[in-house]
Amino acid sequence: MIPQALTWYATKGGVGKSTHCANHAVMNAAGGWRVLVVDLDPQGNMARLLGFDARHGGADDGGAELLAAFKDRRVPTVLRDVGGRAGLDALPGGPAAGELLDLLGLRAMQGQPVSAALDEILIPIASKYHLILVDLPPTWSLLHVVALSTVRFVVIPAEPGDLQIDGVAHALNHVAEIQARQNPELEVLGVAVGKYRRGATRRMAEGRADLAGLLTDMDAPDVEVFEPWIRHTDAAEEMLRLGRVAIEHERIAEEARRRRFEWLRTRDGQQPPSLNVDGARGLADDYAAVISTVNDRFRTRLDATRATMAAVAEAGR
Ligand SMILES: Nc1ncnc2c1ncn2[C@@H]1O[C@H](COP(=O)(O)OP(=O)(O)OP(=O)(O)O)[C@@H](O)[C@H]1O
Ligand SMILES: [Mg+2]
Repeated sequence: MIPQALTWYATKGGVGKSTHCANHAVMNAAGGWRVLVVDLDPQGNMARLLGFDARHGGADDGGAELLAAFKDRRVPTVLRDVGGRAGLDALPGGPAAGELLDLLGLRAMQGQPVSAALDEILIPIASKYHLILVDLPPTWSLLHVVALSTVRFVVIPAEPGDLQIDGVAHALNHVAEIQARQNPELEVLGVAVGKYRRGATRRMAEGRADLAGLLTDMDAPDVEVFEPWIRHTDAAEEMLRLGRVAIEHERIAEEARRRRFEWLRTRDGQQPPSLNVDGARGLADDYAAVISTVNDRFRTRLDATRATMAAVAEAGR
């Protein structure tokens, strides 16, 4: 287990796991942390979200290095400062991560233990990072067992709707399973609500009440549903296309608007693109509020662990 490792976890597809992960990574790297993103998803979405895919001139390898490191049981070579962001490193996912699943399946069939497979390759470099984020595919598999055995923390993203409630229930069940078998220290830091439209107050209140009911039913009243939440935005696809996250996009969109106004005045050169300034505005603040809530919980837990370890070391002297 790596104490400073976390995953945005849901076995429901398209709930914003990868988008949260990308925003979380960029915001904390911008705040001075050294952050590693490990993409275990055969979709390999982190490369596009963070703009280190081939289209943006990045060194995305489709998960080849990740697979090789697992195969050879060695430390992977990570991509440094992805998308030109200081302190943000990545281990890309992609098609080869699909082969990884076959590799783990084969090892499991041969009776080899697999749950520590990610620990094995990451622990030697973990201390270089303040935060390690693991992105996972939606469908439950051995990759999830491996990832949840390595991370200490889980944050569950939840969207409006009944299916999402089921998704949160599944996530909590999986966490309980892993806690019982592989990783007793695994902990849910909270549930982050997102993709509600601004003004959808009643829908939000109903969604939160459903979540509260679920947590009571599942005997998990201590799991916090974060107060801050992420608004629905029509700019999500645009950010993905640019390989930039909310804090970056807000600035890029404002700058594009400024250049457009300038062009309308001068008609000099090519007309600059029109970006969704309104869709971007406020989203960065939403992510800042959610991520700082996550960071507070994360730090408190890590500080408590360090204090316990220090006390144990002191007692053993
Ligand atoms: N705040 C938002 N408003 C509107 N659309 C959003 C928002 N955040 C993310 N999206 C869009 O929702 C879709 C799913 O997001 P994302 O890929 O992060 O989810 P996921 O849970 O990682 O999906 P998967 O299960 O496929 O890995 C994407 O098209 C993304 O652009
Ligand atoms: Mg994803």
